[in-house]
Amino acid sequence: MKEIQGIKNSKEWQEIENKYFSRKSGELAKLLKDIKDVSEDLRPKLGAMANDVKEEISKALNKKKADLDLQTETNLEQDFIDVTLEIEKYKLGHLHPMTQVQSELEDIFKSMGFMILDGPELESDYYNFEALNIPSWHPARDAQDTFYIDPSTGSGKDKLVLRTHTSPVQIRAMQRYGAPLRCVVPGRVFRNEATDASHDHTFYQLEGLMVDKEISIANLVAVMKEMLSAIFKKEVKVRLRPGYFPFVEPGFELDFGCLICGGKGCSVCKQTGWIEFVGSGLVHPNVLKSGGIDPAKWSGFAFGLGLTRLVMMKYGIDDIRLLQSGDLRFLNQF
Ligand code: DAH
Repeated sequence: MKEIQGIKNSKEWQEIENKYFSRKSGELAKLLKDIKDVSEDLRPKLGAMANDVKEEISKALNKKKADLDLQTETNLEQDFIDVTLEIEKYKLGHLHPMTQVQSELEDIFKSMGFMILDGPELESDYYNFEALNIPSWHPARDAQDTFYIDPSTGSGKDKLVLRTHTSPVQIRAMQRYGAPLRCVVPGRVFRNEATDASHDHTFYQLEGLMVDKEISIANLVAVMKEMLSAIFKKEVKVRLRPGYFPFVEPGFELDFGCLICGGKGCSVCKQTGWIEFVGSGLVHPNVLKSGGIDPAKWSGFAFGLGLTRLVMMKYGIDDIRLLQSGDLRFLNQF
């Protein structure tokens, strides 16, 4: 009885049960076997006693078994796991705000029949400057200081630069597709800048080019208007002023009223209330020639848009450096 009281789990219970009830080696089997060796008159009495003992042990074991089962059930209840419970959803990433706005612009231009093109970020000096009517002596190079690549690392033939704008793809597109042509080129560009809230060494532009018969400023203005109303979907102040870019003639700057400060002046708009947004104009004859297109037969307009600036305006981001920071506290807001 003491042994049975001390049983703590079903394994011990089984051991004790075997010890007494095993048919071959159990204590009770032995006892019953020994009974036939005692004198005949004692046998019935001993037999009855043995039966009583057997019954008593059996009862105690059964009771213990019931107790153990109950305990297991309680343990199971305490360890209960609801496998049907909904777990937290696996958090997928999302598109960077730059990519979101880029896709939106691509859709707008696709709807106007423009192709979406791509070009190399490591560009030759020829495509980045020379072919765009910016010879090596031209002061316009100072406005776009960039990262020149050690010439010994390339094929040696071309001087390589990290492209300062998406404009070199204008030349590549004209050489590849000829006229007539409609394309936009979103992409990453680089400048040697002292970085601050509105300048970064890496940012995004979207270039546009349309070449056809008798293209005029009216076509340029119409496409710009279509684009602006599609992007902002609200009243935005715009101004057009003459601007100089060697690859267009005439050239324009299109600015819009700063949406961060509402025109009062802030670090993003350099305290002017206006954001330079698009450089544009009618493609310079020299540029058409570089692209292998006859300026006597064809004309075109081009524009280059500050995609990064646009994203900053759209979301009210007041520091350009956040966009490339990879900071999840920033990115998770979009
Ligand atoms: N590439 C110029 C820049 O980065 C922007 C630009 C101005 C592009 C006028 C054009 C254009 O296509 O016609 O400052």
